[in-house]
Amino acid sequence: MKIKFDDYFIRSWSEEDVQPLQKYANNRKIWLNLRDIFPHPYSAEDARSWIRIALSEEPERSFAIASRSEAIGGIGLVFGEDIHSHTAELGYWLGEPFWGKGIMSSAVSCFTAYTFEHFQVLRIFAEPFASNLASRRVLERAGFSLEGVMKKSVIKDGSVQDQALYALIQD
Ligand SMILES: CC(C)(COP(=O)(O)OP(=O)(O)OC[C@H]1O[C@@H](n2cnc3c(N)ncnc32)[C@H](O)[C@@H]1OP(=O)(O)O)[C@@H](O)C(=O)NCCC(=O)NCCS
Repeated sequence: MKIKFDDYFIRSWSEEDVQPLQKYANNRKIWLNLRDIFPHPYSAEDARSWIRIALSEEPERSFAIASRSEAIGGIGLVFGEDIHSHTAELGYWLGEPFWGKGIMSSAVSCFTAYTFEHFQVLRIFAEPFASNLASRRVLERAGFSLEGVMKKSVIKDGSVQDQALYALIQD
């Protein structure tokens, strides 16, 4: 899979992405906004095993965000099960040197269109920490609606936090 947006791509992970993935993912500021399953520190072995997992998924649902020269972030879906089989959770992160350039706002818009086109999904949702204003803005710019705030729903780095629930519904 490969989608071009602006000067960037959403594309399949490749074994050549190990070094840039490790370099950009190994950042406490990124880890602080993600689930604990995202490793920190982030080793080359973590990068290798993530790429192996992403490439073995069927259907493929975890992708790299990349410049022309290297992977600079990740974006992916987790499909719901049972009565949630028509929903997908969206997750994403971007290497810190690339923040604030509108890259993730464009990536999320492209990727949600791809998701509705390629999967039997009626609802895409995301649950950023309420304090993650940049991620909330990304979702708002991509057309997501705020459905509510889930009070004290997570503990991250020892502190209890709220999550904001955003969703995009297929027309
Ligand atoms: C969240 C993240 C993906 C944003 O990516 P990005 O490419 O920098 O985002 P964009 O440049 O497209 O847009 C960011 C928007 O948030 C705004 N923003 C950035 N930091 C902000 C802050 N501290 N407070 C308020 N708004 C902020 C920007 O001004 C911009 O909005 P605007 O275009 O209306 O001015 C990136 O910061 C990141 O990877 N963070 C760590 C991991 C993470 O939080 N992942 C999401 C988990 S839900």
